[in-house]
Amino acid sequence: MDKFRSLFTTSSFFVLFWLKREPPLDKGIIPWLGHALEFGRDAAKFLTRMKLKHGNIFTVRAAGRYVTVLLDPHSYDAVLGDSECLDFTRYRLTSQFTFTPSTFCALRHFLGMNAAALDSIISRHLRALLKAKTPTNQKDWKEEGLFHLCYSLLFKAGYLTLFGGEQNNNGADPSSVYDEYKKFDGLLTKMARGTLRAGRDTFCYVNKSSISLTLQNHLSSPWLHAYLQLLQEEGIDREMQKKAVLMQLWATQGNVGPAAFWLLGHLLTNPEALTAVKKEFNSALQEALRLTAAPFITREVVQEKSLRMADGQEYLLRKGDRVCLFPFISPQMDPEVYHEPQKFKHNRFLNEDGSVKENFYKGGRRLKYYTMPWGAGTNGCVGKQFAINTIRQFVYKFLTSFDLELCDPNASVPEINASRYGFGMLQPDGDLLVRYKPKNKD
Ligand code: HEM
Repeated sequence: MDKFRSLFTTSSFFVLFWLKREPPLDKGIIPWLGHALEFGRDAAKFLTRMKLKHGNIFTVRAAGRYVTVLLDPHSYDAVLGDSECLDFTRYRLTSQFTFTPSTFCALRHFLGMNAAALDSIISRHLRALLKAKTPTNQKDWKEEGLFHLCYSLLFKAGYLTLFGGEQNNNGADPSSVYDEYKKFDGLLTKMARGTLRAGRDTFCYVNKSSISLTLQNHLSSPWLHAYLQLLQEEGIDREMQKKAVLMQLWATQGNVGPAAFWLLGHLLTNPEALTAVKKEFNSALQEALRLTAAPFITREVVQEKSLRMADGQEYLLRKGDRVCLFPFISPQMDPEVYHEPQKFKHNRFLNEDGSVKENFYKGGRRLKYYTMPWGAGTNGCVGKQFAINTIRQFVYKFLTSFDLELCDPNASVPEINASRYGFGMLQPDGDLLVRYKPKNKD
């Protein structure tokens, strides 16, 4: 009888173990670092290789961390819907930058309350910045890299709108803030990939950087004022406050310019799309984002969790590990979901009758998440509508005020900078040279 019982116990242990096993673990061959270098060099390539080896769920070791990657869009809700066991960690990039989600509520609240006012403030800044690009006597073409043009202009407009306040009387020069921000962005992405020593260089940079101080003094911006107050109430010291404000600048200004670049770049290199864009703006933008929005949607496992996949398999997520969705690989670039996924098709998100297309399938089942540039769930992007309105305004204002064309009519959009997967909107490797001059209004 005892023998029978112990046999029963052992087999039920194995059944349980089999039912709730951990995802396949791939530690890599380098101790501690694991796969960090390959991950940082080109995450899309690395994760595609891991998917072929292990399937839709696996755990990799990278710089001492264990990250479980989930690549089945039918199963994303199991992660997005659980804020008890899984904590939103987008901003916990390193131990140097740790914020609780509550510190974002000032901006979330402000954006919700002031949506219409913000659209009109940014519209005024866009008009002024575009005007400054066109001296009255300018008849000749002006040449510029399209990425630089979009990013610098939209950064300045967004910065003045959100950080400058209604009066913009803080005296900060948005061009120098942009230059400093670009340096910070480069360091931050390196630090998050673990290629900067313990984030020390970024830490020093934040301390030295004049933007952090200028930003803190921008009390003419109502939400920033409320935000700093909230941080003080939470007992966050001045050093951390500086970093927090910089992270807000990064979250709010880092994506709109690159998104406008990819949209305009694809439109200029697809002339038929350029003529159709007035009617089909939303679809064209959605398509540009499908191809170039590549955030990691990361959560920290704060409580052991059993993750049930759509195919019925169950896996155990260990407390202290991270879980990461990478919708760029699937659904966004998944050939099972999109025919010729590498191609820009401006009307991909339209049905034949011109209505919005929302039916996309994988494995014969309709997808709830067929593209995820804004993330999803409770921590999805709070600035989504503001960002869409801004890009729309910018593209229309630019195309109606200027003649814009490629310097080389046969040029194509640049390749992606492969080291930036995971950080929101991708950036190009190089630039696309364009020329523009004010439209002849006669
Ligand atoms: C093309 C432009 C943009 C894209 C593609 C984008 C994308 C994203 C993504 C993917 C997330 C993370 C979602 C997650 O991890 O689940 C996010 C979060 C966030 N975004 Fe955006 N974003 C854009 C523009 C903006 C703008 C203009 C603002 C503010 C005005 C903004 C403010 C934020 C904030 C504050 C969060 C954190 C949300 C939270 O804590 O709950 N974003 N965004």
